[in-house]
Amino acid sequence: MTAERDHGQAPATHGSRIDAYVDRYAARATGMVASEIRALFAVASRPEVVSLAGGMPYVTALPLDMVGELVSDLVTKRGPVALQYGSGQGDPHLREQICEVMRLEGIHAGANDVVVTVGSQQALDLITRIFIDPGDVVLAEGPSYVGALGTFAAYQAKVVHIAMDDQGIVPESLAQTIYALETAGAPIKFLYTIPTFQNPAGVTLNIARRQQVLDICQRAGVLVIEDNPYGLLGFDGEPMRALRADNPDGVVYLGSFSKTLAPGFRVGWALAPHAIRDKLVLAMESAVLSHSSFTQLAVGQYLATQPWREQIKTFKELYRERRDALIDALDALMPPEVTWTRPAGGFFVWATLPEGLDSKAILPRAVAERVAFVPGTGFFSDGSGARHMRLSFCFPEPDRIREGVRRLAGVIEQEMQLRDTFGTSSAREHAGVDTPGPDLA
Ligand SMILES: Cc1ncc(COP(=O)(O)O)c(C=O)c1O
Repeated sequence: MTAERDHGQAPATHGSRIDAYVDRYAARATGMVASEIRALFAVASRPEVVSLAGGMPYVTALPLDMVGELVSDLVTKRGPVALQYGSGQGDPHLREQICEVMRLEGIHAGANDVVVTVGSQQALDLITRIFIDPGDVVLAEGPSYVGALGTFAAYQAKVVHIAMDDQGIVPESLAQTIYALETAGAPIKFLYTIPTFQNPAGVTLNIARRQQVLDICQRAGVLVIEDNPYGLLGFDGEPMRALRADNPDGVVYLGSFSKTLAPGFRVGWALAPHAIRDKLVLAMESAVLSHSSFTQLAVGQYLATQPWREQIKTFKELYRERRDALIDALDALMPPEVTWTRPAGGFFVWATLPEGLDSKAILPRAVAERVAFVPGTGFFSDGSGARHMRLSFCFPEPDRIREGVRRLAGVIEQEMQLRDTFGTSSAREHAGVDTPGPDLA
């Protein structure tokens, strides 16, 4: 008897790439495709490669001894609660603390308006689950967050991108797109936007446009999903006022402790009008019964006993230094035909290559030269973005960032020479939404 039979597995599939269940999957599973660049990123995680690809927060900057003590105290002192099931809406005390955090962005809400989720990624999933039927339209900036595009694809939404520039969404593009879709009879379920320190573009919606975007959506009856994991990581001045602060009924706000504390706790939240909140709680219960009481209480204890505002300041200073290292190196080393955004917060810079260059085609050569980035096509659901790349500055130290840019500039210069000799680098066909994996989100 073969080993696979011992374990009750179908022999035809063991050790092979053939999927015996390929014709059994639900239609929505066809939208779930692993990125063809995943394998390259396995190479890119080697220590000799400078990764400007990853979106991982620099959790080493946390006082880890303190976090360890806090977690250990939680088990010994509050174990029976921390290790028990919790409520579908989330720990009530943590929800109050979340309201205090959101006040920094001008939001006045009560604990009862909040649903705690497994990172804001789960909030995105639940929102999509309760609003989207196959073929429904979601509006999103172009480019947009790859994890959201993956979720929308999984629920078979049709994503329509709205143009953005270095001041965020272009209101005229939003209004025209809504008009065109309404005229065509296509039901728009919501606008998904990351207005502040956007992933991947690093840009922020300016104040005047914030009101315009809210007005356009309100007039058209389009719900706004405001995803704001980086809002408190601005490098200059006070946090921007959230869209939700000016329209409690028309905006669902998604927040997260992943970037201001640590993603390992997987604590995020949704702030929603009550009818939507009720659906979110039911969807949450059907997905996971309840969030982990343990990590919710750990985050609550951290907020109650530790100087969390100071910790955010520490993160901001660290990321500002890295942003400066990246921008200064790009200014000094990149060929003049390459352009990029200049983020005032968050983790990411969005670079645009000269005509005729394709970032996905360049990536293998870049990895061979020991530098990695995320190609732009992963951030669009329609296959565009080939001339763009996302460069992140959150994880490598400043010297490594400078070295990474030096390597990347060399690769791009070579590509430009090749283009001038042989013509454009070919864009491979884009299949579905790239999902580079959590460490690259
Ligand atoms: C824009 C955006 N939204 C949501 C998430 C998900 O974050 P989490 O689930 O860790 O809260 C990320 C993670 O990188 C992100 O960049």
